Amino acid sequence: MTQSQTGAEATGQRTQAGPDGKPYVIDQMISAKSIAARVEAMADEIEAHFGGTEKLIVVGLLRGSFVFIADLARELDLPLEVDFIEASSYGNAMSSSREVRILKDLRGEIEGRDVLVVEDIVDTGFTLHHVLHLLQARNPRRLEVCALLDKPSRREAEVKARFVGFTIPDEFVVGYGIDYAQMNRNLSFIGKVRFV
Ligand code: IMP
Ligand code: MG
Repeated sequence: MTQSQTGAEATGQRTQAGPDGKPYVIDQMISAKSIAARVEAMADEIEAHFGGTEKLIVVGLLRGSFVFIADLARELDLPLEVDFIEASSYGNAMSSSREVRILKDLRGEIEGRDVLVVEDIVDTGFTLHHVLHLLQARNPRRLEVCALLDKPSRREAEVKARFVGFTIPDEFVVGYGIDYAQMNRNLSFIGKVRFV
């Protein structure tokens, strides 16, 4: 089976119905191959930055980062622990509610630790701003952010990821962990939602 015949690729061609019933298709924007290459390069940058760390606490922001963190963690040749935090700013809609709630906190302590927050996409920045404020108050030794995607044109809260995979235009994207109304997280590529 070639790459173009796999289920994930086929899903991208299918017309789907959004939460309000509006039909849409997904156009591929970043291929699985490009993502893999970029994740590998990012891991090198992160290793260089945190080289010599006693232990890196890799904190994934649920749920969108679950695929990214799985790939990234396996590329990182550093002693590390994985923990998760869940914040919610989006309902099932396409725009930020600007109000961030912590739904699930970390299991471990981060005081005096090297911490890397792993986010799927930085959009308005409200989610990350809130989470970083919360984590910073716990006095980690170092606190950095790694985001797979960045939409700088949409930024409203002052926040910057040190490690960024791809800077993208203002499009609503799905795949590789990222959802539209909880769907399409299982696509192996990143695609943009196009209403038809
Ligand atoms: P922010 O608080 O506006 O920066 O939003 C960050 C979160 O919103 C991300 O972690 C995603 O879960 C979600 N989000 C932002 N842009 C998109 C998108 O294009 N597609 C799907 N989810 C998105
Ligand atoms: Mg998210």
